[in-house]
Amino acid sequence: MTATGTWDQDTFAAAVGEAVLAPSIHNSQPWRFRRTVHGIEVRVDRDRVLPVCDPDGRAARVSCGAAATNLALALAVTGRPAACAAGPGVVRLAPDEARAATPLERRLHRQIPLRHTNRAPFVQARVDPGVLARLAEAVAAGGGWLDFAGDEATLAVLASLTRQADARLAADPRYVAELRAWSRSADLAVEGVGRSAAGAAPHPEELMPRRDFGGPDLAVTHDPTRSPAVAVFGVHGDHAADEVRAGLVLQHLLLLAADLGLSTAMYSQPIEVPAVREQLRRAVHRLFDPQLVLRFGYAPATGATNRRPVADVMEVDPALTAGRAG
Ligand SMILES: Cc1cc2nc3c(=O)[nH]c(=O)nc-3n(C[C@H](O)[C@H](O)[C@H](O)COP(=O)(O)O)c2cc1C
Repeated sequence: MTATGTWDQDTFAAAVGEAVLAPSIHNSQPWRFRRTVHGIEVRVDRDRVLPVCDPDGRAARVSCGAAATNLALALAVTGRPAACAAGPGVVRLAPDEARAATPLERRLHRQIPLRHTNRAPFVQARVDPGVLARLAEAVAAGGGWLDFAGDEATLAVLASLTRQADARLAADPRYVAELRAWSRSADLAVEGVGRSAAGAAPHPEELMPRRDFGGPDLAVTHDPTRSPAVAVFGVHGDHAADEVRAGLVLQHLLLLAADLGLSTAMYSQPIEVPAVREQLRRAVHRLFDPQLVLRFGYAPATGATNRRPVADVMEVDPALTAGRAG
């Protein structure tokens, strides 16, 4: 700890190393972490907001919220937890009263390096409804909602909206160029989605059209996206600070799903086309905009994506470097 009772530089650096393992749109890692006299701030890095698929920075804000959840868990297991406050484009973490991490915090923390977005074919096994209920309850406890498609008709609506959005986006050459720029043919790149994480190229027949990160064409024996556990996720609000909050809740959900042995695939195409997003909102009878469509199931482990060096995303308030506060 420092003289002001906040986290020291080593604790900060170690926690940022875990924070950056959060998901982000196209693995763009649109975040910066600043150690201040009051604690730590996670802010959107505007230079890394994707101009075509995320013109308003919504997905970047969700990504920052997700990173802040990892950061908070990393701090919690040191015995010096953080209180998180979400604002538009920022999460501020201030030291909370010292205490031992809870068993749940420890379990979620263990999943941080193990969780990956999975674009591989899911096995055709049903997820126990009790497990899905636990996910939805956790989201509700965090201030969000997770609405599973409870029947084939609803699933067909969600699939159709995802397909419509995907087709509209794919018709825009700027969108295609941006997606190509973040799809990497090697696995070594420190940003973007590499070959082993990309999964196979989307098949025209698949129910939930996956985003095409340039994976190879593979002979398909069953629909790789055929999984009944498809859900729409959001929070009770859709302003900039709510989007950051959505990221906080989303990462908690993803880590809990991983802890329960589930793989997760994410779909933001229907969120990125405003008219489709509105239809999606109506389809799930929600007041506020949805933030993501998710698919849960069981799948073999998938390739991971890499991250930029933590030194590239960390900064320290000059008041601290001047040595005034340790
Ligand atoms: C807001 C948001 C939207 C995303 N949308 C998609 C998507 O539409 N399709 C997809 O395959 N992955 C999507 N992802 C997952 C990212 O591509 C993934 O998090 C990133 O490549 C890093 O990989 P990882 O999750 O395995 O760590 C999304 C992630 C976030 C945070």
